[in-house]
Amino acid sequence: MEIKKFPDGEKYVRINCDVVGKHAIIVQSGALKPDEYLIETLLIADALNDLGSKHVSLVFAYFPYARQDERFKPGEAISLVTVTKLLKGVGIKTLITVDAHRHRVINFERIFGGKVIDVSAMPYLSSFARSQGLVGEDVIVIGPDVESEGWAKLAAEAINASDYGALTKRRISPSEVEVTISKPLNLKGRDVLLVDDIISTGGTMIEAIKLLRKMDVRSITVACTHGLFVNNALMKILKMNIKAIVSSDTVPNPTTKVSVAPAIAKAIKELNC
Ligand code: R5P
Repeated sequence: MEIKKFPDGEKYVRINCDVVGKHAIIVQSGALKPDEYLIETLLIADALNDLGSKHVSLVFAYFPYARQDERFKPGEAISLVTVTKLLKGVGIKTLITVDAHRHRVINFERIFGGKVIDVSAMPYLSSFARSQGLVGEDVIVIGPDVESEGWAKLAAEAINASDYGALTKRRISPSEVEVTISKPLNLKGRDVLLVDDIISTGGTMIEAIKLLRKMDVRSITVACTHGLFVNNALMKILKMNIKAIVSSDTVPNPTTKVSVAPAIAKAIKELNC
């Protein structure tokens, strides 16, 4: 494809190959420049359909606007739903995502109107942590908020960790959170693998690390699927004296150590288009 920007900031897209009758798969990231990548994706998908592709799929490695998956305050736009409708509107029939943040949207496939496969980076992240020495019965996988408990479970299963659990988070502002413990967790002397889908400002991880320290854990390894690391977040986390930090290649960054490509390739094969 040819992708350019006009001097006024608008995007130009040209599909420069024959797509007639073919299954076209767009591989895109929506991270860090969400508006720009979203418009680009819509232009590409619409053009592919218009030019005669038989089926258009989208691999959205980082699904932008997904965290606003509910109307938390009256009058708010639910951006996850809006973006999904736009993707559907340009004829994207299949969606492959990675640890997408849509806990509160019931019937996501119905809103999208097509098949959705969500693959996870958690097995890769936790296996990497294990290869770096995070092994033994003292290992526990923890999510920093209730929503991440499912990912903590997946990560724990992948490395046969004996235990997993989640802390509780209350968001005060886009960059401020309060992390507490609401369920009893046996953490003293444990090696913690702290996992989440996204690290953005790092506020969530930093507060979780502070809390875990108070609980006398032995070591903390941090893992996330999408390392956005805005506003110097990585430096702030590294200053917390953690054992290691790892993320996947959905948003390439200095902590990227694992690739989700094999999981995406497997999902594409399953589509059988
Ligand atoms: C939100 O619930 C996500 O799962 C992450 O916990 C969140 O995006 C992290 O954001 P931040 O790094 O800015 O605290």
